[in-house]
Amino acid sequence: MKAIEIKKGIYWVGAIDWDLRNFHGYLTQRGSTYNAYLIVDEKITLIDTVKYYKTADMMKRICSVIDPAKIDYVISNHVEMDHSGALPAIMEKAPNAVLIASSNGEKGLRRHYNKAWDFKVMQSGDTLNTGKYNLQFVLTPMVHWPDNMLTYLPEEKILFSNDAFGQHLASSERFDHQYPVDIIFQEAEKYYANIVLPYANQVNKALEAAAGLSIEVIAPSHGIVWRKHISEILMRYKKWAGNETGKKAVIIFDTMWESTTRMAEVIQECFDDKGYSTRLCHLQHHHISDVITDIIDAEYICVGSPTLNNNILPTVASFMSYLKGLAPAGRKAMAFGSYGWGGQSVKILSAMLEEMKIEVVESHRIQYIPAQSDLDELQEKISAAIG
Ligand code: FEO
Repeated sequence: MKAIEIKKGIYWVGAIDWDLRNFHGYLTQRGSTYNAYLIVDEKITLIDTVKYYKTADMMKRICSVIDPAKIDYVISNHVEMDHSGALPAIMEKAPNAVLIASSNGEKGLRRHYNKAWDFKVMQSGDTLNTGKYNLQFVLTPMVHWPDNMLTYLPEEKILFSNDAFGQHLASSERFDHQYPVDIIFQEAEKYYANIVLPYANQVNKALEAAAGLSIEVIAPSHGIVWRKHISEILMRYKKWAGNETGKKAVIIFDTMWESTTRMAEVIQECFDDKGYSTRLCHLQHHHISDVITDIIDAEYICVGSPTLNNNILPTVASFMSYLKGLAPAGRKAMAFGSYGWGGQSVKILSAMLEEMKIEVVESHRIQYIPAQSDLDELQEKISAAIG
């Protein structure tokens, strides 16, 4: 298990998590990596670590380059434990290392690990000289926690971006010219949608900061390192953070006896007829984290549930809770569903969407099994609402 050189004297010393399938509710069907980086200069610096159960992998990779005891600085760009889990182990191996973090990073790490580490707190614009290199720090709070910061190495034009520009993607390949780029972009989009989406304002500030830097390498803390497609990933982040939507409708639903399915299909056809790109997402078959990825550029979110015990189906409730947390702005919505007697589901869905500040432009319910005349009426209403 060896380090991989990303530029002369600068190494990836992270770990590959082939088996990861759940990252707090996000289906990581391609696994992930935890990327740590080692900069060998007069002073030796480690940037971020790995999840605790991958500590041995990181140590082996560091040991393939240097004795970990020689590490002078450990930079923690982010407290979350997928990046700080191996900190206790590395700080024990390198007892003289100074731990570099933002002010919130220091507070967070103290709360997580309760260790008497020697901290040095960085503000945006502060630098750290390691010999021939002068590392610069840019605080990027809420991309993805309050403690986040970026580390920039100007002499080599490398941006260590932590969660930003990352992807949950396990691979033996480390660089974007070595792996199918469509898959990297797909996973970067899913990562943005499921992790970064609520923080568009903060992402825009981070992008402004990045725009002033000359960048040859973006080294994120998950997935593939960007060398070839830097302008494209920056452009995509700009688009996602700009909340740009296209002519697209995502129809999300669950069903008991297929009546809500019939309604979902009619709604999809209405959007198809109006020239929209559509996605039909049955929640028993589509994971909520994939649905959110589809929503990232959708103008319409249409949610359907039959009424179950005066409520909505649990799968739809789970989706709505996830959607509320990620809070996509500027979308239009429709609520629909079948019912037997109470018929509360559509009202409940509409209220939930409105609470998320998503404008509900149409809602419709049908009792028991839709007759063709019911579906025709639905089709007319939906078509008129789309305009
Ligand atoms: Fe990859 Fe917010 O941690």
